[in-house]
Amino acid sequence: MQDTKSDPLATCSHIYKDPDKAHYCSYIQVPGLLETFYRGAKTTDEILLCSAIYAYTLWWNLQQKELAALVHLAEAGQPLTPEQCYDALKRANRCVEIDRIMLQQGVIARSELLRHNGTINFRFALGDTAQLELFSQTAHQTRLLDQALGTFKLQEGADEAASQHLLSSLKDLALTHSDSFNTIQRDFRDLLWAMHEHPATRVVDFSEVVPVEQLLSYGKATLQKYHPQAVLEDARTNDELTFITAHQTFEVWFPAVIHSIQEATRLLQLRPAHTWEAEALVRRIADIFSLFGRMIHIPQTMTAADYIEFRDQLQAGSGVESFQFRAIEISAGLRDTRYQKIMERMQLVTEDLRMLWDTPSLNAAFMETLADRGIFAAGDAAPDKAAKIAELLLPSTFANPNVDLTALAESLVRFEQNVELWRTDHIAMVTRMIGRKTGTGAATYAHLGNSNTPEQEKMHFDSLPYLQNTLRYQKIFPALWDARDYMHDHSR
Ligand code: HEM
Repeated sequence: MQDTKSDPLATCSHIYKDPDKAHYCSYIQVPGLLETFYRGAKTTDEILLCSAIYAYTLWWNLQQKELAALVHLAEAGQPLTPEQCYDALKRANRCVEIDRIMLQQGVIARSELLRHNGTINFRFALGDTAQLELFSQTAHQTRLLDQALGTFKLQEGADEAASQHLLSSLKDLALTHSDSFNTIQRDFRDLLWAMHEHPATRVVDFSEVVPVEQLLSYGKATLQKYHPQAVLEDARTNDELTFITAHQTFEVWFPAVIHSIQEATRLLQLRPAHTWEAEALVRRIADIFSLFGRMIHIPQTMTAADYIEFRDQLQAGSGVESFQFRAIEISAGLRDTRYQKIMERMQLVTEDLRMLWDTPSLNAAFMETLADRGIFAAGDAAPDKAAKIAELLLPSTFANPNVDLTALAESLVRFEQNVELWRTDHIAMVTRMIGRKTGTGAATYAHLGNSNTPEQEKMHFDSLPYLQNTLRYQKIFPALWDARDYMHDHSR
């Protein structure tokens, strides 16, 4: 087995690799994270369970470091300068932002895994609590911070109004965290308890499903290699770890999305198609993308100046290289040839992605289901299809025999809308962090267009125009948007 920790590029499937540069795969350590993913997780629910618990683990690893720093500051009993207070405020704010994410992911886990009878074919062994240390540490730090809140005080002589403002904001954030943590704790305990009590015969150790140390080792290795100053005892901030965690949590959620898309596609390919089951999965995907919309704000718990301090060490790395993100787009149905061309030229189309491109997507399976149910004829031109789909979406005075397709269509649109909201929020966050000039990853690929082949004109890779362009690609579910245009045009 390859040691992905020492050489993540060895197992990454990217064509363009420069061992002297930090790439997304080597920096975020995607191959290692995926290798850690529990191989016994086969069903969509099992994969969702793993994604959720890995995300809890990664978030708590970061959060408890911030809480420990706050507790340390409070317990030191030293009066704070306004600068120290402002710094503490950033940490507390990060804790609250992480809470918001965990609250939202708790809602998804409760609804998908606890309220419905999830298909989970293993259960956790009882008494296997050592692996929950991270959770206990976070709970402990939260209690300590609660108790120490009253000891925060400001240096005499500091501007009175400003100081009071900072101090009360800090206390407010710490209390907000404490409140949220109660709910997060309940969600997590319920989830674990349900997985203990679950009537499955296969019993597995929690540590087998969630090898905490291994999961966290990738972030540690990246810190040690690229940001050695950030692992020192007196590291001023956890900004680098925040940046790494922000990406890693996406990468551990992506398998749940990819698998759900592929399973929904399979369900729609059955005859008769299992439309309600597919609809439930698409709703799940839409909910996870809505969670992504919140997660993408985490980097903003640093300032642009904080980010600039370590940005150079990232060199080539950027999410543009995320293999799993591409797998989501392609499996869902993004088939814009402009997109394909640009991915080819950046050498981001791996063999696996090429195969996905040629495999029927969720959109294709949905369209075939509509044709199979006689909503339109397979040979209809796009405008006729749009008109007929519009009828499916319009309220009817008669009982709708295709209400399952109507529901599915609405969930697919919500999924795509949440992808677009993620893109828009990512662009806004990127602009806030790096301004409107060039970025990291795409800039690296600019040289590829400068080859001697005359038909390859010079690629222009300014990050922001590149990202904005992704919003102009053809839709993932184009017929559903065409149907909306049709409804609008014919409503007057
Ligand atoms: C400080 C935080 C971040 C900055 C400054 C940033 C910057 C950028 C930039 C400039 C690009 C365009 C390509 C390039 O020029 O490299 C990009 C693309 C991308 N980033 Fe981020 N990013 C950040 C955080 C994240 C996070 C947390 C994720 C989560 C996985 C992410 C995922 C992506 C993806 C998937 C793309 C490709 C989008 C597409 O091609 O449609 N980014 N990022």
